[in-house]
Amino acid sequence: MKISSSIIALLAAALSSADAFVPAAPRAVPVVVVAKSSSALLVARDLDGIAAATAPSSSSSSSSSSSSVDRTMEGVDDDLPYQAFDPTAGDSPAVERNNAGGVWVKQRARPRRNRKSSGIRAMVRENIVTPSNFIYPLFIHDEDVDVPIPSMPGCYRLSHESMMREVGESLELGVRAFVLFPKVNDDLKTNMGCEAYNPDGIVHRSIRAIKAAYPDAVVCTDVALDPYSDMGHDGVVEDGVILNDVTINQLCKQAVSQARAGADIVAPSDMQDGRVMAIRDALDSEGYTNVSILSYTAKYASAYYGPFRDALDSHPGFGDKRTYQQDPANGREALIEAALDAAEGADMLMVKPGMPYLDVIRRLRDASDLPIAAYHVSGEYAMLKAAVERGWLNEKEVVLETLTCFKRAGADIILTYYAKQAAQWIKEDGLY
Ligand SMILES: *[C@@H]1O[C@H](CO)[C@@H](O)[C@H](O)[C@H]1NC(C)=O
Repeated sequence: MKISSSIIALLAAALSSADAFVPAAPRAVPVVVVAKSSSALLVARDLDGIAAATAPSSSSSSSSSSSSVDRTMEGVDDDLPYQAFDPTAGDSPAVERNNAGGVWVKQRARPRRNRKSSGIRAMVRENIVTPSNFIYPLFIHDEDVDVPIPSMPGCYRLSHESMMREVGESLELGVRAFVLFPKVNDDLKTNMGCEAYNPDGIVHRSIRAIKAAYPDAVVCTDVALDPYSDMGHDGVVEDGVILNDVTINQLCKQAVSQARAGADIVAPSDMQDGRVMAIRDALDSEGYTNVSILSYTAKYASAYYGPFRDALDSHPGFGDKRTYQQDPANGREALIEAALDAAEGADMLMVKPGMPYLDVIRRLRDASDLPIAAYHVSGEYAMLKAAVERGWLNEKEVVLETLTCFKRAGADIILTYYAKQAAQWIKEDGLY
């Protein structure tokens, strides 16, 4: 190996054909190497680019300088007490030499060219998150003070005033859509969940207030009984069983009452069979053909919802939700739900949770032309916050990366507790 280096050095000395930009590099050597290559004929076409890329910008004489590396790599291993492998030597060299004598991996396709500057990276970027992609979930309650949610640092059960302020500030930052989740007092909870369609309920009052103050805000509502159920389930319970059709009967009343209050989008999250069609028909028959349905199409029976249930105090009173929410083990099943929801009149399809279910987002994206939403859920938020609080992750970087990954996976819409904060970061960075 040392022999090879010496030969190069001798040749370099013998050939005085000085090259303007690589004065110390031998020119003749690569010809020998290239001749051994099976792709020798292809070499010439890329020489200019590679030679320029490998040419030292200043003097190449000092191989020990940390600011400039001698591309010939001569003498790098001279002081080692052992003989290092020389990739440029032998009959089948792994690394060849260019016209300037610099080491050359004869690679013509170099994807790094499209990453070489922030301008080029921005030019070829495939997915960009903007605040208009977000739906901002807001926890609301009928109290005068905001109550922090311990498992979701930075999130609160908001008073009416704070909710209005949060909406106003978010709109300023370009976040235009909101979804309301009420913390309902226990004395209003029943098995039938009738408070869900009380026109003077907290959600209905909030919708009216937001739409009055900010007509352009997009107000989404959760269509589900769990915040109103004394059983903590997304449906009416009988003998431990969640009754599908009886529940839908209640959900239709809830959806129409929310539409009457001014909701732009109703989002059934209950996972009962046939609820999208029934809700569509209920809305249409009352004249609300203009209210959209964002269906929780693939909502999994996930442990990632824990902090959300803390926020609403809506933990199931018995059992779990596995008889109606999807089994986390199933991906194909989401396509059955997606086909049904589309046929039943859903305008948008949602996958929940988000990060651990990016494959499901992609499958829905590929199977449907409807907009796809991803719910970046409370447990995902809590995990990020916990690591950030310990200094283990950079919050801004990891959050913007996470949100971008939803877009890459195929989501058009992202429900995230980070909506306002991310919009602020995006604005600061001028990212769009
Ligand atoms: C939607 O339809 C309802 C009922 O007809 C109507 O009151 C409301 O103004 C409509 N909203 C929009 C945005 O067109």
